[in-house]
Amino acid sequence: MNQRDKKTVFIRSFGCQMNEYDSEQVTRVLSKRGYTFVSDSSQADIILFNTCAVRRHAEDRVYGQLRMLRSAKKKNKHLIIGLMGCMANAYKDMLLQQYSYLDFISGTKDFTRLPEIINEVIGQRTQKAFISDLHDEFIYSKNFQNATKVNAFVPIMRGCDNYCSYCIVPYVRGNEISRSPQEIKDEISFLARKGVKEITLLGQNVNSYGKGLQPTIDFSTLLEQVSIIKSIEVIRFMTSHPKDVSEKLFSVMRDNKKVEKHIHLPLQSGSDKILQLMNRNYSIDKYRHEIEALRKQIPDVSVTTDIIVGFCQEGEKEFKETKMVMKDIEFDGAFIFKYSPREKTKAYDLPDTVAHNVKHERNNELLNLQSKISDKKNRSYIGRTEKILIAAVSKKSQKQVRGRTWSDKEVVCDGSSDLIGKVVTVELKGLSHETFKGQITD
Ligand code: 5AD
Ligand code: SF4
Repeated sequence: MNQRDKKTVFIRSFGCQMNEYDSEQVTRVLSKRGYTFVSDSSQADIILFNTCAVRRHAEDRVYGQLRMLRSAKKKNKHLIIGLMGCMANAYKDMLLQQYSYLDFISGTKDFTRLPEIINEVIGQRTQKAFISDLHDEFIYSKNFQNATKVNAFVPIMRGCDNYCSYCIVPYVRGNEISRSPQEIKDEISFLARKGVKEITLLGQNVNSYGKGLQPTIDFSTLLEQVSIIKSIEVIRFMTSHPKDVSEKLFSVMRDNKKVEKHIHLPLQSGSDKILQLMNRNYSIDKYRHEIEALRKQIPDVSVTTDIIVGFCQEGEKEFKETKMVMKDIEFDGAFIFKYSPREKTKAYDLPDTVAHNVKHERNNELLNLQSKISDKKNRSYIGRTEKILIAAVSKKSQKQVRGRTWSDKEVVCDGSSDLIGKVVTVELKGLSHETFKGQITD
């Protein structure tokens, strides 16, 4: 591409951290071919949306953004609009039919071939779908991500084999495939050389990492291997599945100084009946025992969770059970979602019995309950001394910096940008919403 043809690209990512990573891959492969990136879509020759299909709400945001581009396309017929990722796999040609001004869609396994896709779209100027079969291999870009911050996401696997009955992920991202430990370590070593100090290992179910790999390896071993990489200070991971966590993982979390003292362990519901309908493969008793075992090993561990309200057949009794489990366990934080039926999933065939307003009320009730619990738990941290890795200048003041504790609590303290990337000890002095005010003591 010569200077005159140089195209500008705007990319927006919706949904999870895996999408953020994928968008970063797109940025990298396109930058290598001479594209430049802009933060204002009205300045772009190419507009890309990397989409999420996990809930209706996420999709509605994408549709809203797409509709806003209709007039932009009318004004500039050379504008290229592409929709990538989970929604492309979920709805395929239907999207092209419904949005005549959409130039192309590309799937969850097609990110790294975006330069070829865009060339073809520019050359042919007809609407087209580029969606690889989900059984195809996913090839990561061999050029590792740019590291501009001290923290980075690193996927260790893609897809999911669990088929929770409400979840579209296995249908849009395919079956679970673990990335080789060598490739993961190479990427982290590269990031470490670029100044990254904190990594978050990503996967839909990190605890089943290693399936199908030779020689065999499990997630706890991967954590230990990664922790040997010099200058990485904090290793975070998400998401864990209650059916697959192990005592071995808890021991590594306890003994390894670099591994966070936090686990995100989605409960989804406090009712055995609902868990069974969700095909989660654990009981509430098992979940409670896991938390007990983990807290025995690491008394201060922080536990966060996901909960879905209003799943099929969730009556008052089942909802009460969820509240009871939340009160007993006292999570540090919880994401609460209203059940959103997804085509193709098993639960889509079950009647969506809970009325919208009831889902809404239950959602609010759990948000209120959790906010009280989180506040109580967080207040018990005040006065404590904790280590944090300074990640950035605070959003509110140039004279303050922020970082997270090993238990994943956000802390802001006075200090300047030269502290970024350093591990400091802070005394937690106060709390505003979910952010602590800390004072550096060393
Ligand atoms: N409706 C509502 N929430 C969902 N999640 C996944 N699928 C759905 C759905 N169909 C939630 C689960 C999961 C989180 C990432 O999103 O709680 O853990
Ligand atoms: Fe979806 Fe369940 Fe897989 Fe999570 S574990 S991605 S909820 S199917």
